[in-house]
Amino acid sequence: MKSEEIRSKFLEFFQKRGHVIVPSSSVVPDKNDLSVLFTTAGMQQFKPFYLREKSPYGSNVASSQKCVRTSDIEEVGDERHLTFFEMLGNFSFGGYWKKEAISYAHEFITKEMGLSIDYVTIFEGDSEVFEDKESVNIWKAIDPNLTIKKFGREDNFWGPTGESGPCGPTTEIYVNGIEIWNIVFNEYFKNVEGKFEKLKQTGIDTGMGLERLTMALQKKETVFETDLFKSTMQVANSSIIADHIRTSVFMIADGVLPSNTDRGYVLRRLLRRAYIHARKLKIETETLNAVIGKVVEHPSYKGLYAFAENTKEIVMNEIEKFKKTLETGLKQVKADRDPFTLFTSFGLPLEIIKEVVPNVDEDKFKKQMEEHRKLSSSSL
Ligand code: ALA
Repeated sequence: MKSEEIRSKFLEFFQKRGHVIVPSSSVVPDKNDLSVLFTTAGMQQFKPFYLREKSPYGSNVASSQKCVRTSDIEEVGDERHLTFFEMLGNFSFGGYWKKEAISYAHEFITKEMGLSIDYVTIFEGDSEVFEDKESVNIWKAIDPNLTIKKFGREDNFWGPTGESGPCGPTTEIYVNGIEIWNIVFNEYFKNVEGKFEKLKQTGIDTGMGLERLTMALQKKETVFETDLFKSTMQVANSSIIADHIRTSVFMIADGVLPSNTDRGYVLRRLLRRAYIHARKLKIETETLNAVIGKVVEHPSYKGLYAFAENTKEIVMNEIEKFKKTLETGLKQVKADRDPFTLFTSFGLPLEIIKEVVPNVDEDKFKKQMEEHRKLSSSSL
């Protein structure tokens, strides 16, 4: 089954069960939501509806949300971590509760997708929140043979995005050894002081990565082997390049430009990393251009095509500038042999320096960094 079909089946499944399909919001969050730099979950555009605002779509909705998560940027390149992904989700604001949410998920995974569940997890409880026995009973009633594992706050309690917002215990579904669906029972509001308050109405918030689900259905070892990445991987030959360029294309389409602060800096880091990897593989910058071409031509992302030329120009300008900075910096390192210059004079972080200066003494670098920080803070 192709990824486009998987996405449509998910949305149709929930539409048939009384959900309104809401288009994805931008990867740049609403200006009133300062909790995160990028949209990191499907529930984000619906946050006010878990609190006081009435949802204009009714109480049950579903979406396929464009998400950017860059906290694990170092892990990209393994089979599961992507900086951009699509989150399939169904949501309820004071409508249905655990029984319906779990039954829908079970039916979609086992009947609609024909996958078998390895096991599910639930929240084991702690001093602040009770064990989720209700979910255990619901799962047992659906399938008495199912393995149910219990975990703590780290694994089975979700949210909020950023420091405050709706959150609650979760139940997660594992297929082929990976977590594919996270079902959150929003019962709490975490305020900016870190305190949990009971929400006036309960809410459902679920998230399933389209890429991981596609990987399970297409029986692939990595997301990069699915149809979502096939054409980009053919020209990129590197999962880091394919991932970072795909994310950059989506960011630029939603109005982000490379810069030295906030979102723009994240985009700049992604493009620099993509370039560094292309350089290591001796792939010319034209290849990065070709990867952009493949991303925007993908049948799943038709809306991006209109941004193709603009995106290529932005990326190429950024990379040309970086190339010059890097070459000048590297010449200087050759002359005075201290890679720390790349940081002080050229603003390159250690993560990039490690890629271009083999055998850089990381401990020494970190000590220098510490000194530099002390000096710059005392001179303020
Ligand atoms: N909001 C939940 C998540 O991001 C579903 O995993």
